[in-house]
Amino acid sequence: MILETARTLLRPFADGDASDLYAYARDPRVGPAAGWKPHANVEESLRTIHTVFSAPNVFAIVDRESGHVVGSVGFVGRPRGEEGLSDELGYALSPAYWGRGLMTEAASRVLEYGFTVLGLQAIWCSHYAENDRSRRVIERCGFSHAFDQRLSDEFAEDRLTRFYVLLREDWKRRRSR
Ligand SMILES: CC(C)(COP(=O)(O)OP(=O)(O)OC[C@H]1O[C@@H](n2cnc3c(N)ncnc32)[C@H](O)[C@@H]1OP(=O)(O)O)[C@@H](O)C(=O)NCCC(=O)NCCS
Repeated sequence: MILETARTLLRPFADGDASDLYAYARDPRVGPAAGWKPHANVEESLRTIHTVFSAPNVFAIVDRESGHVVGSVGFVGRPRGEEGLSDELGYALSPAYWGRGLMTEAASRVLEYGFTVLGLQAIWCSHYAENDRSRRVIERCGFSHAFDQRLSDEFAEDRLTRFYVLLREDWKRRRSR
């Protein structure tokens, strides 16, 4: 499945994307903000393509201008809540491309895909409390804050994580405005 936006192509990852992925996944500003360690080498990026990014409905974000893979966006395969079919959105973008609206553009397209093609009733998203950039993507995409939880991971104990949800009906209403 290939999705298009004005400035990006969203398509499945391929082995040949490992070096583009490594170029940004090695950057300490990217993984730890999303709960994973910076990649140590291009082999780790290739392994991630095989193990994590091979899941259905995970997309490589190709910047049309440069032709490079500059990020990832898609569904992590984690249903939540009781609104019916649901999943959680995850994403990361190369810091060289921050501040241009590319993730909001790509994520909005994937939300549309989730509601219209996958038939999701609710889409969830979360960010560490201090991740203001991710919070702003979530807000721009129309999510509503649902609850907060303290979670421990390899980076921190008891880290405050904020969860948001976008219901299909609210998304439809927002689009018809
Ligand atoms: C979270 C992350 C994807 C956000 O990236 P981003 O570039 O800030 O987000 P967008 O691509 O949506 O760009 C939005 C910014 O571009 C600006 N912008 C510039 N041109 C724009 C345009 N044409 N359209 C929309 N926004 C534009 C916006 O004003 C906004 O800046 P602001 O939030 O300071 O107001 C990025 O910081 C990242 O990958 N972080 C590390 C991984 C991570 O945290 N993942 C999420 C885990 S929860």
